[in-house]
Amino acid sequence: MKQTIYKFLTAIYLISSVSAFAAEDNNPDKRISLGLNATEKVAFLTEMQQMLASIQGILIGMGEDDRQKIMNSARASGNKMARATPESIKQKLPPAFKALGGPTHMLFEELAIYAETDDMDMLAAFSGKLMQQCMNCHAMFKVD
Ligand code: HEC
Repeated sequence: MKQTIYKFLTAIYLISSVSAFAAEDNNPDKRISLGLNATEKVAFLTEMQQMLASIQGILIGMGEDDRQKIMNSARASGNKMARATPESIKQKLPPAFKALGGPTHMLFEELAIYAETDDMDMLAAFSGKLMQQCMNCHAMFKVD
């Protein structure tokens, strides 16, 4: 009797692990999950929305020749944001994520400095280069 139960449980275990594996394999979303909880996810995505707002402010600033607006918009996503990220999120972020995220904040800081004197076309080119970071990371990771 005991053996039958073990066999039964083993069979269930095997079937469930096979189907879990199959489900994962069939998932068309191949990005790496950061495994954030609901609270962390809100904080994380709020930072992301701020980064989009920074890009918007930078574009408006370039269009209006408003250097101060470019600087303020860029700094909002610079080191200030990197420092403000909650510790529990930082601990979950894998090295490959940090390798893209850290330099992105630094590029915003760099842009703020260039915005003091550089021509608008140079600032536009630099912003385009900065946004390659957004592209690369979005292709690789998801929050949950
Ligand atoms: C180091 C990684 C990384 C970088 C760099 C990055 N993002 Fe993200 N971003 C993510 C992840 C992960 C998500 C969540 C995607 C998902 O789960 O579908 C996200 C989501 C977003 C969202 C959706 C927010 C929401 O509320 O759903 C926006 C907007 C966004 N990012 C803007 C940007 C912009 C603009 C940049 C560049 C200036 C940028 N991100 C750079 C990782 C990154």
